[in-house]
Amino acid sequence: NKKAFIFDLDGVIVDTAKYHFLAWQKIADSLGIEFTPEHNEALKGVSRVRSLEIILELGNAQASQADKDVWLKQKNEDYLSYIKNMDRSEILPGVMHVLQYLKEKQQPIALGSASKNARIILEKVGILDYFDVIIDGNDVTNAKPDPEVFVRAAKKLKISNEDSIVFEDSFAGVDAANIAGMTSVGIGDAKILKKAQYIFPDFVTIDLSFIDTLIKK
Ligand code: G6P
Ligand code: MG
Repeated sequence: NKKAFIFDLDGVIVDTAKYHFLAWQKIADSLGIEFTPEHNEALKGVSRVRSLEIILELGNAQASQADKDVWLKQKNEDYLSYIKNMDRSEILPGVMHVLQYLKEKQQPIALGSASKNARIILEKVGILDYFDVIIDGNDVTNAKPDPEVFVRAAKKLKISNEDSIVFEDSFAGVDAANIAGMTSVGIGDAKILKKAQYIFPDFVTIDLSFIDTLIKK
């Protein structure tokens, strides 16, 4: 019995969501736009370009493409400086436990992330080898909640959407998994992730018997 286990990256495997937030806040600040952690929820799982648009919409601001390009570049430079010294210790608690178990059970594992920095981060934290398939921001044209990133991952693993399980920390990502007809597992705040079929505050609270249930489903 094989299922596709598809993991989002930022906020699921590593705590980089905080770095994305800090880098965006810096841009918003410089534009005089108020940008709170609540606002940031709408950016989670969303592409870099779309994230900037959302911030500009928040401030009712218009900008030329040239300006946008400068801010997008600035945001990524700041983000890269934040993740520069990342290592294994920034893998979120409980994640390795689940990844190792899936390997033991010979279950296909994929990454489904909107980030163009996904591979660098997996390398930095030393878990690139766990993933049979990686679909990231360089491979997709449609941002979550469009299911493209997850559908591509499942297809590459040659597993149907119905037999795919997605771990997500974002509202947009849970939507994407649901739209694709996959099993959605929300990791984080139940109030934000209420559309997920299963919700856990983190991977530490995921029992391996739950993973077994998913495998046998
Ligand atoms: C993930 C994060 C988003 C981020 C997006 C693009 O989905 O949750 O916050 O904006 O990736 O990341 P990138 O590294 O390409 O800017
Ligand atoms: Mg995420």
